Amino acid sequence: MNVLIIGSGGREHALAWKIAQSPNVGTIFVAPGNAGTGVEFENVDLQVDDFEGLIRFAKNNQIGVTIVGPEVPLCLGISDVFLAEGLRVFGPSKLAAQLEGSKVFCKEILTHANVPTAGYQSFRTAEEAELYLKNRFPQEDHGDALSLVVKADGLAAGKGAIVCNSRGEILEAIHRISRDREFGEAGNRMIIEEKLPGTEASILAITDGRTIVTLPPAQDHKAAYDNDQGPNTGGMGAFSPTPAVDEELMYWVEEKVFVPTVHAMKRSRQLFSGVLYAGLMLTKQGPKVLEYNVRFGDPECQPLLMRMQSDLLELVNATVDGKLSEIDDLQWDPRPSICVVMASEGYPGSYDKGRVISGIDQADRLDGVKVFHAGTKLRAGDVVSNGGRVLGVTALGETVPEAKLRAYQAVKEIRWDGAWCRKDIADKSFGAIAGG
Ligand code: AMP
Ligand code: GLY
Repeated sequence: MNVLIIGSGGREHALAWKIAQSPNVGTIFVAPGNAGTGVEFENVDLQVDDFEGLIRFAKNNQIGVTIVGPEVPLCLGISDVFLAEGLRVFGPSKLAAQLEGSKVFCKEILTHANVPTAGYQSFRTAEEAELYLKNRFPQEDHGDALSLVVKADGLAAGKGAIVCNSRGEILEAIHRISRDREFGEAGNRMIIEEKLPGTEASILAITDGRTIVTLPPAQDHKAAYDNDQGPNTGGMGAFSPTPAVDEELMYWVEEKVFVPTVHAMKRSRQLFSGVLYAGLMLTKQGPKVLEYNVRFGDPECQPLLMRMQSDLLELVNATVDGKLSEIDDLQWDPRPSICVVMASEGYPGSYDKGRVISGIDQADRLDGVKVFHAGTKLRAGDVVSNGGRVLGVTALGETVPEAKLRAYQAVKEIRWDGAWCRKDIADKSFGAIAGG
């Protein structure tokens, strides 16, 4: 079966790499892909929102199934248009993708389904939000040290959630979203919610809308610099499994988070099929959902797929056909895996592109290591940087320290002008405590 993967990040390289291990796969195409997918698979020069082009390509190349990596095409309704053309596609419908595409929608489903989440209010205008702040948290009672999170409703490339620790920061966040329109239409609505203390974890599930298969827990590192300092990024590294989530907690999350959410979606005629990713805060009162994503996490996908021993194509096909209940339990490599993201100088702010990268092959040859490309492209035979997050250096080891050592040994082989990474990926696994 020929497979088309849509996207160009580390997640999509990892998806293609894992699908390639399936005995039933034909040619793997990635649109638009990166240098890594271009060398190992076939890149297609079509952007993720060029639905007409992608449909034509899928029809002309006997694509058996299309796997959609990023949230933007999903929220624009790519699954609906593929289905309408009789093409098989892995990823939720436009309506179901609102779980990620609209924070207000997500909160309404969570509330309706009785899933634990931070208390919140939604607003359409800055005036409404300011009035709420004034009435609900009067200055005379609460002072200026106020911790709340202000979020733009729509997609904002991971930047739309502003964690605030003072009244001034909250007012500024409201202003940025609603008056400055920093996130464009994503700021047509916003929510203000309580700030939750605790440890974050990512738990992903695959569902066909009826059966739910959870994947092992993972942890991301969203802040740019060591010890979780600095601005938020798309994710600077991840590891799996995480000791912050034990088997009992996994069971709890299945029962209290995924099952009621998937049922609520079905009941409201927005059947959810694809990857449901719960971003959780593990608080002293138990896990609470911070957000849902409707796709694999990037970089969580990379260490998860390094550990997956089951046939991903079979899993994808079973999901698309609504037959997840018929497949065997997933098998996982018990060894931990970590992914260290190497980034361009300046990221998550502005950065240069086109720097020549060396040493990827040497890194890839190390035992238990796979270098997944993200922001890279080929230029006259060289691999050059082409984005903020450039590579996801991923390694398996018998223990977390061994996996970490291998990943950082591989990082040392790779060079380009301005390359950097966090040095503490997976250190959280040593001191992880819920509610810490
Ligand atoms: P979101 O886009 O909603 O996942 O938010 C992005 C990041 O902001 C999360 O990964 C958290 O680090 C942080 N965050 C979001 N909501 C909250 C909250 N209610 N309490 C504490 N931190 C939060
Ligand atoms: N790693 C966070 C995300 O994919 O949104």
